[in-house]
Amino acid sequence: MTSPQTTTGTRVGIVGAGPAGLMLSHLLARAGVDNIVLDRRSHEEISHTHRAGILEQPSVDMLTQTGVDGRIGELGDEHEGIDLRFGGESHLLHFPELVGATVTLYAQNEVFVDLAAARARDGGDVRFETEVTEVLDVDSDRPGVRFRSLADGADPDEVHELRCDLLIGADGSRSVVRRALADGGSQDLSHEYPFAWFGILAEAPKSSPELIYARHERGFALISQRSETVQRMYFQCDPGEKPEDWSDDRIWSELQARVSGPDGFELKTGPIFDRTVLPFRSFVRQPMSRGSVFLAGDAAHTVPPTGAKGLNLAFADVRVLADAILAWADTGTREKLDGYQDTALRRVWKAQNFSFWMTSMLHTRADATAFENRRILGELESVTGSRFGMQHLAEQYTGWPNS
Ligand code: PHB
Repeated sequence: MTSPQTTTGTRVGIVGAGPAGLMLSHLLARAGVDNIVLDRRSHEEISHTHRAGILEQPSVDMLTQTGVDGRIGELGDEHEGIDLRFGGESHLLHFPELVGATVTLYAQNEVFVDLAAARARDGGDVRFETEVTEVLDVDSDRPGVRFRSLADGADPDEVHELRCDLLIGADGSRSVVRRALADGGSQDLSHEYPFAWFGILAEAPKSSPELIYARHERGFALISQRSETVQRMYFQCDPGEKPEDWSDDRIWSELQARVSGPDGFELKTGPIFDRTVLPFRSFVRQPMSRGSVFLAGDAAHTVPPTGAKGLNLAFADVRVLADAILAWADTGTREKLDGYQDTALRRVWKAQNFSFWMTSMLHTRADATAFENRRILGELESVTGSRFGMQHLAEQYTGWPNS
């Protein structure tokens, strides 16, 4: 191994500058805990990564009550419910009435832009286009990483080292930190789905005040929003589907077919300017930590987007982890750090269950029997047909209380 060009030290090294890594960095910096964030991607690339956009109230609070001072107050759109549509009929679940809560639609890439701006404003050390090439000494009390800059003009052969007291892998579903933690005692638990989502962004007015989650015999569709003039929509597709095979007309007629019904509901259409096929799965790495190395967000677990839980789970991890790190930084005790994964995993598995349930209930499968397809309509009716059923879904969608 060649020796590094430079070696830097910090208390907390964070790999990944997505919302989880930046929020953790922000919370630690506010409490005076020195940290450095590294990410292979550029600011530009992350800010164009489209993900789900539903924030539970505690996630909104984490932004607004910790001085991120982003644009969520201006651009975020509070939603009072969702429309579950099946058999061609809409069923509105009104969250304030059912569980006294709302959610906010604010795209994940906007959350990233706000957090990155807050870190820059506060003088945070966030290094984009910086690739971690190796994770070092995970079982020691001074773990670290080797990294190199991918920025224009940088020498890619020049390797640097970062050493820290705690190392955090917040580096997404293909986490390099997670890979370095794998040992005989770790388990990767996962579930694969035989479908993906075809996602579009279109210049069009809103089609409905609330998001529509539709089950149709042709498959699932989700009518979401971004603003008064830009809409986000998805429909269930084959994982091998090619975005370029779909003209605007073909996309609109597929989406329209899946939300049509006797009520004559019609989508408002317009030019489509972004189309992507998004494969997904359910995944959890256990344990979520080893020694002084901890995983947070997608690095530790991913959920299908149907329940809109990904970012909320990442922020919930960060809330628990930041609290544990601050206790350790203050007093030197590791008790809360040692409890991190038990607390985090309780929520993770509830969210896994919810996301799996929503996904299974709303998507269709080529191998489903007539019995199965009819049974699912019974399941949807048992949700929408009773206050308890609707409350059960609403409680999970709007999120569980903080632990
Ligand atoms: C989105 O707007 O991108 C979105 C909303 C809700 C979901 C998934 C994605 O469940």
